[in-house]
Amino acid sequence: MNTNSEVRIVEVSPRDGLQNEKTLLPPDIKVALIDRLSATGLKTIETTSFVSSRWVPQLADAAEVFNRIRKVPGVGYPVLVPNEQGYRIARTAGATEVSVFTAASEAFNRANINASIEESLQRFEPVLEEAKAEGVKVRGYVSTALGCPYQGEVPIADVVNVAKRLYDMGCYEISVADTIGVGTPAKARAMLHAVSQEIPMHALAVHFHDTYGQALANILACLEEGVRVVDSAVSGTGGCPYAKGASGNVASEDVVYMLHGLGLTTGIDLDLLVATGAWLSAQLNKPTASRVTKARITAV
Ligand code: HMG
Ligand code: MG
Repeated sequence: MNTNSEVRIVEVSPRDGLQNEKTLLPPDIKVALIDRLSATGLKTIETTSFVSSRWVPQLADAAEVFNRIRKVPGVGYPVLVPNEQGYRIARTAGATEVSVFTAASEAFNRANINASIEESLQRFEPVLEEAKAEGVKVRGYVSTALGCPYQGEVPIADVVNVAKRLYDMGCYEISVADTIGVGTPAKARAMLHAVSQEIPMHALAVHFHDTYGQALANILACLEEGVRVVDSAVSGTGGCPYAKGASGNVASEDVVYMLHGLGLTTGIDLDLLVATGAWLSAQLNKPTASRVTKARITAV
């Protein structure tokens, strides 16, 4: 049993939350979002992606946004990079933490980054080497850990293998991701348990999309299994443009409400988070997907 009562939320709304939005948001709004998030007590905010702007037009302003955000001491601002080219551009923009991403299923990886799993891992090798030499922290994502939009079922052994490869290459933390939100608690827990046989639990994170409404239940099951790092996005924004059927991430407001209710600590001011989620949904001109923000919206 993990008796550690501190949970770190990795807020992914500026990256995962926005990457699937068709209406291009101006950099001012993105900078304002990240600055607001920085004031909530969050310790990690994934700010943007240095991917091809042809693949993800919404985040073509990555360097400008990264440059302009207020960097609060003690808060990490990782950025997503798919290859060495992205890593170099991110470093020039001043990034000191990056995330690499691959998947446990071949077909999804091909659709998402036009590479096989093996090719993607090979692409990360120079990234990990340069990052090590430059003192840059690298996080690794394993997508489709509980199901693939093309392949369907994904064997747990495939998730374990890819996660271990990333960890052995030098990623300090591995986030196992239910990209299309099809997982259920017992499956999520079994997957995390299997991965934790190869990678210490303190180096694992969970990343749930909420397509089938299972995300909070999955997180609870994974907390019981011992995980203490959870990815989420305010207002329940998010989704991968190359994962058919993917919907938003689990809403940070709902995760924080649940965690505090369980007596776990996050260091996050829930009122500020709710206000930020409500503000973001207004900027996106769509209703919030956070139940907590819906419940409190009149008070914002
Ligand atoms: P490609 O077309 O196979 O690559 O794309 P390429 O090497 O042939 O390059 C094509 C063009 O892109 C070239 O430009 C390169 O310079 C440029 P051109 O010569 O044609 O003008 N390029 C870049 N430009 C900027 N930054 C770069 C970069 N790399 C190449 N880093 C590539 C391959 C990986 C680039 C492309 O497939 C890509 O960018 N994919 C990103 C897809 C993406 O961002 N998906 C969403 C994030 S993952 C996710 O959401 C899942 C996650 O949340 C966890 C979960 O929920 O599962 C993390
Ligand atoms: Mg995601």
